[in-house]
Amino acid sequence: MSDAEETIRQALANTQIKDVTRENSRKPTHKFWETQPVPQIGDEPPLEDGWIEPSKPREEVRQEPYPLPNEFEWTTVDITDPVQNKEVHDLLSLHYVEDINASIRFKYSAEFIRWALTPPGFFPQWHVGVRVSANKKLVAFISGVPMSLRVRGKEIAASEVNYICIHKKLRSKRLAPVLIKEVTRQINLQGIFQAIYTAGAVIPTPISVCQYYHRPLNVPKLLAVGFTSVPRNSTVARMTRIHKLPDATTLKVRPMEEKDVDSVAELFARYMERFDMAPLMTLAEIRHNFLSGQGSGSGPGRQPDQVTWTYVVENPKTHKISDFFSFYYLPSTVLRSAHDLIEAGYLYYYATDVAFQDGAEADGRLKSRLQTLIGDALIIAHRAKMDVFNAITLMDNVPILNDLKFGAGDGYLNFYLYNWRTAKLAGMEDEGEVKAGKGIGVVML
Ligand SMILES: CC(C)(COP(=O)(O)OP(=O)(O)OC[C@H]1O[C@@H](n2cnc3c(N)ncnc32)[C@H](O)[C@@H]1OP(=O)(O)O)[C@@H](O)C(=O)NCCC(=O)NCCS
Repeated sequence: MSDAEETIRQALANTQIKDVTRENSRKPTHKFWETQPVPQIGDEPPLEDGWIEPSKPREEVRQEPYPLPNEFEWTTVDITDPVQNKEVHDLLSLHYVEDINASIRFKYSAEFIRWALTPPGFFPQWHVGVRVSANKKLVAFISGVPMSLRVRGKEIAASEVNYICIHKKLRSKRLAPVLIKEVTRQINLQGIFQAIYTAGAVIPTPISVCQYYHRPLNVPKLLAVGFTSVPRNSTVARMTRIHKLPDATTLKVRPMEEKDVDSVAELFARYMERFDMAPLMTLAEIRHNFLSGQGSGSGPGRQPDQVTWTYVVENPKTHKISDFFSFYYLPSTVLRSAHDLIEAGYLYYYATDVAFQDGAEADGRLKSRLQTLIGDALIIAHRAKMDVFNAITLMDNVPILNDLKFGAGDGYLNFYLYNWRTAKLAGMEDEGEVKAGKGIGVVML
């Protein structure tokens, strides 16, 4: 080898070493998640769907709680007790999820938390808290609720894990892994070994990612609190005019009632077959999710304590429910003026029997019906004094968002499965032949 060749070889070797070093320094390490039964970053897509670790008999599940630092203790939060319900509400109100600019923070109401954590068959032990031993102050929380989940062709008894929250003063002390392990242990003790969860954070390894979209309902308010701004080529008046909604709904919708439960359940089950991953709901779950959160009182607008709205379209001849939509109420605190709340509605589940007509998707009939149906949801949300209506790129949302005047937000939601392998599901982007959104039929609260 000549000197010149040797110099070049050395230079190349050095570049490779540098590349590898740069690669290593760029790759985030996940000291906790690397130890968990989740797909690891860089794993090939699985040849077959299934568990990563086998289920264990109850007696082989760890029987004692994980150790906490000395000054803390575990607590099972009784969310049906108003005092403890309020403690969780207060913790989340001050310490839960903020947007990337730390300008707004979710403010789940106490009624919402209670509703979300008490579906049929819930386990009180899955509502795990951490208190300061000295004064019993609640400083951390994590929860799970049971659900039946279909992922592609397989049905799984799973837990939906949500609301992990650690007091701001206790962050970055590796408490989150202990909370996650403890709720997992409680879930395992009930014979459940899979979970679904979502996060803005990217950890090993998302099965899908969806993007948030926002549909302004009260433009002046959203401008006043800084949630949105006037684009250079527009004006407040123009923005307000563009987003103005009619007073009356297009379809003959009415609030769902007890007598609709069977019909909604049937429509829902059939409609959800359209998506690769979806919940399977019993009649009791349909009743809980769509009926029980309507608050006290009746009439249009928003009732005291109302957390969900479900409206149906009844076929006048068969009295079957042909369509329904639901949304939930989740305000956010505006952090630079602690009094201001952004009143937000979030699109929950919906279905229409137009999807079952031959060719309805290909010729645009389904899209057109959904646009009308979700357009009516916007009108009901506006009447209920919401400032904005949010949706993410799942189910059949993607094709209708633009026409309904939703704008893309800067938030993303990653979907995860614990102890289950499956190939990527279509969220904000197509996956192979599957169109965006169609992979995900689970709306997390
Ligand atoms: C999310 C939160 C509980 C994490 O706690 P923390 O004090 O920041 O982190 P800790 O030092 O205790 O633990 C870090 C580990 O938890 C993981 N982690 C962080 N956020 C997580 C989340 N949302 N879900 C699962 N794991 C998470 C980290 O990836 C890290 O593990 P790794 O080393 O394997 O990557 C805390 O930041 C918080 O309460 N944030 C506000 C509420 C919130 O965002 N909740 C999550 C909603 S999805």
